Amino acid sequence: MLKGKKIVVGITAGIAAYKIPLLIRLLKKEGAEVQVVMTTFAKEFVTPLTLSVVSENSVLSDYYVKEDGSWHSHVELGLWADALLLAPLTANSLAKMAAGIADNFLMTLVLSARCPLFFAPTMDLDMFQHPTVSENIVKLQSRGYHYIEPAEGELASGLKGKGRMKEPEELLHVLTDYFSTEHIFKGKKVMVSAGPTHEPIDPVRFIGNSSSGKMGLAIAKAFARKGANVELVMGPANLDTRFPGIRTTDVNTASEMETACKKIFPNVEIAVMAAAVADFTPAEPANEKIKKASGPEVIHLKPTADILAGLGKIKKQKQLLIGFALETENELANAKEKLQKKNLDMIVLNSLKDKGAGFGTDTNKITLLTKNNPPRLFPLKAKEAVALDILSAIQSLMEE
Ligand code: CTP
Repeated sequence: MLKGKKIVVGITAGIAAYKIPLLIRLLKKEGAEVQVVMTTFAKEFVTPLTLSVVSENSVLSDYYVKEDGSWHSHVELGLWADALLLAPLTANSLAKMAAGIADNFLMTLVLSARCPLFFAPTMDLDMFQHPTVSENIVKLQSRGYHYIEPAEGELASGLKGKGRMKEPEELLHVLTDYFSTEHIFKGKKVMVSAGPTHEPIDPVRFIGNSSSGKMGLAIAKAFARKGANVELVMGPANLDTRFPGIRTTDVNTASEMETACKKIFPNVEIAVMAAAVADFTPAEPANEKIKKASGPEVIHLKPTADILAGLGKIKKQKQLLIGFALETENELANAKEKLQKKNLDMIVLNSLKDKGAGFGTDTNKITLLTKNNPPRLFPLKAKEAVALDILSAIQSLMEE
């Protein structure tokens, strides 16, 4: 699975470093080329000699070798790597990464690397539960880095809880999983709708909602990073949508969004409708600004078209249609009903009851519902990480 892949394994000073030689053996068996980079303190936990023997490569730790004056380029190494795995990653190095500190060879490499980055923070229970650690993890996830959650169990302190590094076999699995799905979305045509809609009352006022567009944009970017050609239909949100592989159609109203989506949908294989579309629009928007004195006490509304349901009606067998459901009560039942009624392959449920989920935040907490499988609940994550969960669920649908 990893034949010819160039993997940099970055080791920081955690006790779990003693398990890394086994991981390297597994990577080598899978056909990967491995370059170990370690911090000075990591050498207290596992010897460079062991790592060098198992990786069949010299181990890098510094910018230069004093004895012969040769130096190592973190920039070149960053370009060479197909993946960078940081395991174990201490709370200290995690914080440095979150802050962009580059005070050793490994941290400069992190800033130079353009490849996917996987990080496995490991630490004691209380440290892991500290708010700065969770904030830093979310920060790294929001940069598109892949978080490898620690396992629960016995910790070096003798305490029991979350903080252990995943076993080498599991770390290997994360990488093989990533590379096995690398090509699945390559060249696929995908439509994503995102953001709110603004329904004009008069030329200066509108009915809108507080959707930020961040979830939809994160999904669009996740597809584009995997090589898909993405058509993003974007409602009025203050986001920079320029990104290689994404073509954006900006729209304002539900009706404009409907026109754009209907035009694009027949040519795509996957559509993810993350936009928060207004269900009603002013029946007769005023042509001139409504004056206070003459202002209406009542604004008459008419329903908008349900874009998603409309696409569900024209969906071809080979197309996958994914919707969102934002609920505040009877979440699962309502989402299930939408899944069926709108003829969807999957629905992403957000509950506004969950703290940190839904509109405006950088995080989200989702439940995925499909026709044939039981609901899958996910923990609170950065929206970029949520996007990756959605993509891997879509991949499973494609393989069904
Ligand atoms: N949606 C749409 N067109 C609309 C309203 C909603 O395409 N006019 C889509 C959204 O993009 C989302 C899904 O339908 O993918 C569900 O949106 P949501 O607001 O949760 O549900 P509604 O269908 O509007 O139902 P309700 O407001 O009754 O919950």
